[in-house]
Amino acid sequence: MAIRLGDIAPDFTADTTEGTISFHDWKAGAWAILFSHPKDFTPVCTTELGYTAKLGAEFAKRNVKVIGLSVDSVEDHDAWASDIEETQGTKVNFPMIGDPDRTVANLYDMIHPNADDTLTVRSVFVIGPDDKVKLTLTYPASTGRNFDEILRVIDSLQLTAEHSLATPVNWTPGDDVIIAPAVSDEEARERFGAFDAPKPYLRYTKAPS
Ligand code: BEZ
Repeated sequence: MAIRLGDIAPDFTADTTEGTISFHDWKAGAWAILFSHPKDFTPVCTTELGYTAKLGAEFAKRNVKVIGLSVDSVEDHDAWASDIEETQGTKVNFPMIGDPDRTVANLYDMIHPNADDTLTVRSVFVIGPDDKVKLTLTYPASTGRNFDEILRVIDSLQLTAEHSLATPVNWTPGDDVIIAPAVSDEEARERFGAFDAPKPYLRYTKAPS
């Protein structure tokens, strides 16, 4: 069954390039990105994994743990890692799940048979400290994802989780943010000080630093 926003991310135990991991224990109250790629030793995937590794410090700053997956074996992931380092200039610094029997891929509905009946699509699940799914994305094999966008979404999700703030169209960090409708004007003044309200339902404020 499809995994929906707000669902508890299904737990699993799997072999990875960093040993056997039980997912919920591994994430241990942090944010997590669980993402699949279609296949090892393929060009688009090589660039995605290299770039994700380059963002390691940005994810750590935000308390986000990253874990990748494909239906290849851990041995293949290990062999491929040296190509990623050689061509992308970065060591893979997060675990990659080996899922040749597709246990996790099926649990997370990462195989879309009308696209490809054996390989995973490019799925992304952002999971909060409460183990609930906060974001899902699905890209086809031929389109590399924008991991800067995934980082931007995490910044927005964390503003919501910590401050009841939302983010407007095309928001990037540093731009004004939106006070969530559930927050009254009185509470908004207490929490954020002055705010600009061109409409009663459209209230902008500065993002907390
Ligand atoms: C790639 O990563 O380049 C790729 C993988 C599977 C199908 C098509 C492209």
